[in-house]
Amino acid sequence: MPIPTLTLNDGTTFPAMTFGTYKLNGAAGVEAMKSALNVGYDALDSAFNYENEGAVGRAVKESGRDRKTLRIASKLPGRHHAYDEALTTIEESLYRAQVDYYDLYYIHWPNPKQGKYVEAWKALIEAKKRGQIRSIAVCNFLPEHLERLEAETGVLPSINQIELHPYFPQDEMRKWNHDHGIVTQAWSPLGRANDLLTNPLLEKIAKRVGKGVGQVILRWHHQLGSVPIPKSATPKRQIENRSIFDFTLTDEDMAAIATLARPDGRLKNQDPAVYEEF
Ligand SMILES: NC(=O)c1ccc[n+]([C@@H]2O[C@H](COP(=O)([O-])OP(=O)(O)OC[C@H]3O[C@@H](n4cnc5c(N)ncnc54)[C@H](OP(=O)(O)O)[C@@H]3O)[C@@H](O)[C@H]2O)c1
Repeated sequence: MPIPTLTLNDGTTFPAMTFGTYKLNGAAGVEAMKSALNVGYDALDSAFNYENEGAVGRAVKESGRDRKTLRIASKLPGRHHAYDEALTTIEESLYRAQVDYYDLYYIHWPNPKQGKYVEAWKALIEAKKRGQIRSIAVCNFLPEHLERLEAETGVLPSINQIELHPYFPQDEMRKWNHDHGIVTQAWSPLGRANDLLTNPLLEKIAKRVGKGVGQVILRWHHQLGSVPIPKSATPKRQIENRSIFDFTLTDEDMAAIATLARPDGRLKNQDPAVYEEF
């Protein structure tokens, strides 16, 4: 079953699931990404700081897939938010992947203490005008950061990629994004394979619907209206993870999973209001 698509606020289409690539580097990374492209993922996440834009470009080339059917993404690191540096970094990202354009380019973290994310955003807007990026996006932005982007540039992102899993469902942030026409993408959607995957409640639901726990979690994301980005180096899991569009969780299942939320549910305490990454 193909991965369904949705339409972003700039009119472009985007798949309802993206393949995560953090820690997929070098030849092994290329093989894992090629496998993902060959089992039907159309979108690859990446970042300048993952040091795997080269592997992404190589996997795309070796997969034999038509570039126009794919959605390739990368992210601007915190140390290059200054306007000119951001534009140069985007060019470097293009050269590394050996592509003419990125479908998506994000600001990786707002780094509010540094306070240059509006400058970085202006650079992304300019790169879009130059045809180097199709859609511009952010990760880990809070309403206060998004409001500044809108006030100072008049442009909101197409996607806000945030930490999101059953222990940290981010109801308010998801609603804010939705109310402003921004698609929520979920990073570490499987909780980076922590004890979520052996959670008794999720195991019970998985048994009843005849699916794996990972599939139940990814289906939960889909029914919340967010786009999960599962990463797996394992071909069998890659197929399992994308096979979530032929079953439905009940309202009772969704309500039960909501009870797993924890106020301190972040994996590594990376609160974008204070956390900075360069
Ligand atoms: N914007 C940001 O700040 C940000 C931050 C973090 C991540 N991300 C993006 O989000 C992507 C996903 O997040 P993540 O990599 O942190 O974590 P994740 O996708 O939640 O979990 C990945 C882990 O789960 C395992 N796994 C995958 N499918 C499984 C299954 N069906 N059953 C059991 N285990 C399974 C993988 O193992 P194997 O690989 O061994 O199969 C891997 O160890 C990243 O790769 C990256 O692209 C973005």
